[in-house]
This record gives sequence, C-alpha cells and structure tokens, in this order.
Amino acid sequence: MTDSSESGDRSARHVWSAGRYPAMAPNMLPAIARLINAAGVDPGNRVLDVGCGTGNAALTARRSGADVVGIDLAHGMLERARDNASLAGYDDIDWVAGDAETLPVPDDAFDVVLSNFGHVFAPDSTRAGAELRRATRTGGRVCFTAWSPNGVVGDLTAVLTDHVGSSPDDPWSHLQWGDPDFVREQFADVAACSFQRRLLEFRYATPHHFWREFAEESGPLSPILRRMDDDEARAALRRDAVTVLEEWFGDNAIRVEYLQVRAVIE
Ligand SMILES: C[S@@+](CC[C@H](N)C(=O)[O-])C[C@H]1O[C@@H](n2cnc3c(N)ncnc32)[C@H](O)[C@@H]1O
Repeated sequence: MTDSSESGDRSARHVWSAGRYPAMAPNMLPAIARLINAAGVDPGNRVLDVGCGTGNAALTARRSGADVVGIDLAHGMLERARDNASLAGYDDIDWVAGDAETLPVPDDAFDVVLSNFGHVFAPDSTRAGAELRRATRTGGRVCFTAWSPNGVVGDLTAVLTDHVGSSPDDPWSHLQWGDPDFVREQFADVAACSFQRRLLEFRYATPHHFWREFAEESGPLSPILRRMDDDEARAALRRDAVTVLEEWFGDNAIRVEYLQVRAVIE
C-alpha cells in the first residue's frame, strides 16, 4: 500500500509525532477492548485501524487473529507502532503512512474498519467518513469512538474558546463526531448505525497532571497552547481548565464521556 500522507501540508503529522501522546496511549486500552468486542473481530478478518497511533487497536485485532493494516498520518506514531508490534512478534502487520481523508487502500477491502479517536481529527469530516465506508465491504463493520461534546471535553472546549478563540482548524471544531445525529447524517443510506455512550477513565494523581499530559504536552492542543506566548495567559487558562476538570475528577481519574459507534455497511 502506498503512502498518502505526503500530499499537501498536514501539520497534524508533526503535532502528533512531537507530543507526549505515547505516554498516555495506554489510557485508551479499555475503550479499544470494548470497540473490538462491538466490531466482532474474528480470526482471518481483514481489519484496518485508521489513526492507529502507537498501535493499540491494530495489535488488539491482531491478537484476535485478524489480518491487520494500521494507518496514521504521523511517522513518529508509526515508528512506535512498529516497535510495539515487534515486541509482540507481530511482524505481519502492515503499517502505512496515510491520511484518513484519502486512505491509501482499495474499495471494499476490509471486513472491519476501526478508528479509536483517530479519523475524528481529520479536518474534512465528510471526506473522512466517506473513506471509512469506501474501505469497508458490504456487510462489514465500521466501528469508531469520538469524544462527546457533552462531557468534559465539551466543557474544556468552552474554556479553550474563551481563552484562545476558535478557528475551523482547531481540533475541538470536530467534536461533531460525538453526536449521533451527525453520524447518522454521514452514514445515511449506506449503513445501519448503533450507538453507545461510554466513559473512559484517565488515571492521574491530580487534574493538573491530566491537563499537562492531555492538553499542554500531547497531540493537537499543544501547538495552540504554545501560540500563547504570555505565561500569565497560559496560567489563567490552566486555572480555568483545572476548575472544570475538578468536576469530572474522582478516585484519581478524570472520566471522559465518549460515543462508541458501530455501523454495518449496507
Ligand atoms: C488520540 S490519537 C489515537 C491513537 C490510537 N487510535 C489509540 O487509540 O491509541 C489520534 C491519532 O490519529 C492520528 N491522526 C490525526 N489526524 C489524522 C489523519 N488526518 N489521518 C490519519 N491519522 C490521523 C494521529 O497521528 C494520532 O496517532
């Protein structure tokens, strides 16, 4: 499969590679276990993991006996994924650099297409949704997760918008994937969708530690926060963010609400 990530200027590639995401990736594992159970991955299934990151979902599907391809925009993530696969002796996973908006795969090629908080970050949501469907055979399953606009991520979005404004390129502009109505609209006439609202726990000693790892030092928020060259402004944002986080913090975890989607392609 060919590399589709080099077309165009996709700064997201560098953002995700540079951050501390790999340190927080294990927090995703409970969501991935549930996603793969919902998808129903059987031995011999052809499985695509879009926005595979360090390989969490791809490795889990491979462990179920699937034939797996992992695609990510960020070369740094793919390096981690290859390392992780090699540790488990899974040398047969195909790791491909590519963009969720132009997946470098043939039509109808997969029984299951997974994306655990992956394709939701593609700026052109409609294209990314169409690509997930295109890659999946009739009767196959597209299963993905998306942060909910109602939970802590929605609340943090309001704080971020207050402090740094908003633009269509901001990652939090794409929370619409966490809304079942938006998903139904994207998959109208081509898939039967079912939804589950879920909670994912991110374990930290304090909300400050979550904010540092989730926002300041990982993934797509970090460059936006660096855009704030004023330390006082950044501290004021942190203070307000932590106040919101306190409401969602208990038993050493932030509970983040998300939507799990299962769409059977018709
Ligand atoms: C929150 S991480 C999730 C990683 C992985 N799915 C997991 O659950 O651990 C988001 C991933 O999506 C990737 N990504 C962001 N935008 C993308 C795009 N347009 N095409 C492909 N991958 C993308 C990032 O590089 C990052 O690895």
